Amino acid sequence: MKQHALITGASSGIGLELAKIFARNGFGLIINARREDRLKELKNEIEESYGHDVHIFTGDLSIPELPQQLFNFTNELGITPDALINNAGIGDYGFFHESDWERTATMIDLNIRSLTHLTRLYLPDMMKKEKSWIMNVASTAAFQPGPLMSVYYASKHYVLAFSEALANESADHGVLVSTLCPGPTESEFQQEAGMLKSKLFDRFPVATSKEVAEYGYKALMKGKRVAIYGAMNKPVPRLSALFPRSWVTAVVRKIQERK
Ligand SMILES: NC(=O)c1ccc[n+]([C@@H]2O[C@H](COP(=O)([O-])OP(=O)(O)OC[C@H]3O[C@@H](n4cnc5c(N)ncnc54)[C@H](OP(=O)(O)O)[C@@H]3O)[C@@H](O)[C@H]2O)c1
Repeated sequence: MKQHALITGASSGIGLELAKIFARNGFGLIINARREDRLKELKNEIEESYGHDVHIFTGDLSIPELPQQLFNFTNELGITPDALINNAGIGDYGFFHESDWERTATMIDLNIRSLTHLTRLYLPDMMKKEKSWIMNVASTAAFQPGPLMSVYYASKHYVLAFSEALANESADHGVLVSTLCPGPTESEFQQEAGMLKSKLFDRFPVATSKEVAEYGYKALMKGKRVAIYGAMNKPVPRLSALFPRSWVTAVVRKIQERK
């Protein structure tokens, strides 16, 4: 039977590249994002290149009902994804006390709630398969507190901790769970998060979304539980654990400060 990958945030950046990679590797797709025109473009491209079925579910995953509606949509298609790729995520730059609450709540609902809910909905059926895969996209931000993006960094701590525990629980059921941790990556994220003012992207090498997605796909297939992309990023967890936490936090603040 044909394999399918469900990919959230497939309209740009890392998610768009992951969709192309899964298609190249023989998967049919269910793709989600809010911008339907982008998803339609991707569907046409993949159907023309590979002839796979591509199903579009347009919608804002920060709305609490959306994960259930997406689950119902795939059920009606008679598809249980072999791969669930929880990639959609947003950031927000600036001091927490000045932040817009609606934006913060949306970020928590998208980065944490929808990822967790989709996993809870699909996991039992995925466990019935001989082998299946879950990729949760975190960040190198998962390894240290992040002044000037405090909620975003904390949301990625959650993704990492949740996914590592899930990898442990699910291994006996043939479900490989991998947390992809990109460092700074060229995509729409930086602009969308209001990070053009931050020094972060000037201070670290910036990967392309394609490089990160290619790496993430291979790591997922191998069942690598924590997949950190980039030679400069790989030591981040060890370095963060080595120094006092207050010092690490102060360094992140320096890196995140305005140009
Ligand atoms: N770029 C980086 O430097 C970087 C570094 C570390 C981790 N990451 C993580 O990588 C993941 C992908 O980000 P990216 O860099 O590829 O950024 P991106 O180009 O901005 O892509 C984000 C994707 O999420 C979708 N999305 C945003 N809000 C949504 C919502 N409410 N409901 C449904 N979909 C939504 C966007 O589509 P629509 O706008 O069409 O809805 C888009 O497809 C995120 O989880 C991000 O935190 C990125």
